[in-house]
Amino acid sequence: MAASSLKQRSQFLFVFVLAIFFLSHPVNSDDEAEHLLQDLNDFRTSVNLPAFTKNKNAHCVAKKIVDEMDDDDHPCTNPSSSSSGNKGTRLSDYPRAVSKCHIDTNTTSGAVVLPVCVANLVPTLVLTNFTRTHFSRYINDSSFTGIGISSEDDWIVVVLASNTQSGSLASGASSHGLSYYVVFLLLGFVARLNLV
Ligand SMILES: *[C@@H]1O[C@H](CO)[C@@H](O)[C@H](O)[C@H]1NC(C)=O
Ligand SMILES: *[C@@H]1O[C@H](CO)[C@@H](O)[C@H](O)[C@H]1NC(C)=O
Ligand SMILES: *[C@@H]1O[C@H](CO)[C@@H](O)[C@H](O)[C@H]1NC(C)=O
Repeated sequence: MAASSLKQRSQFLFVFVLAIFFLSHPVNSDDEAEHLLQDLNDFRTSVNLPAFTKNKNAHCVAKKIVDEMDDDDHPCTNPSSSSSGNKGTRLSDYPRAVSKCHIDTNTTSGAVVLPVCVANLVPTLVLTNFTRTHFSRYINDSSFTGIGISSEDDWIVVVLASNTQSGSLASGASSHGLSYYVVFLLLGFVARLNLV
């Protein structure tokens, strides 16, 4: 009896920690990304375009791409080439990220990836690397409406989703798998609480 209750307790704890992790994760957005979103939307307003709206799948791929860059130790040594980089601006250049985020690949060709590397992510330099380089044509384009931003070390990656089907970054069939899993965990947690 005591052993099973101990086991149950550790199960509670496990589920509880998982729940906290999953619930807090999306809220835990980084300051650099929020700052850049604000700046980019101020820019959009200044050129009479609607503000970008946050897109969950764009955020997911931005995060995976910036993680990949960090894993690869993608060098950020030559600032002048940072925004042209050797990675492309096409989301199809990042198939792993697309697949990890369970995005329907038929809705990725019209989306763009804009990676920028700035030492210490100095906000003014980060902003002008998007608005005063060849990237500006994407920022200044009314067909891009959704945005996801993620940063790590000196890299910040912006992913823009378009208002057309081909760039909408729609979720593929299995994308709800994880959320259902979390819901089941939480239901299990609540059910167990009721037993106590
Ligand atoms: C993507 O497009 C291909 C061919 O156009 C189609 O066969 C496939 O079912 C589509 N996939 C999804 C998830 O809609
Ligand atoms: C882009 O960032 C680099 C630093 O990584 C900076 O030297 C350069 O001036 C920036 N370019 C623009 C147009 O802001
Ligand atoms: C934005 O694009 C419009 C036309 O699409 C152009 O007239 C304008 O000069 C551009 N503005 C900037 C800041 O690039």
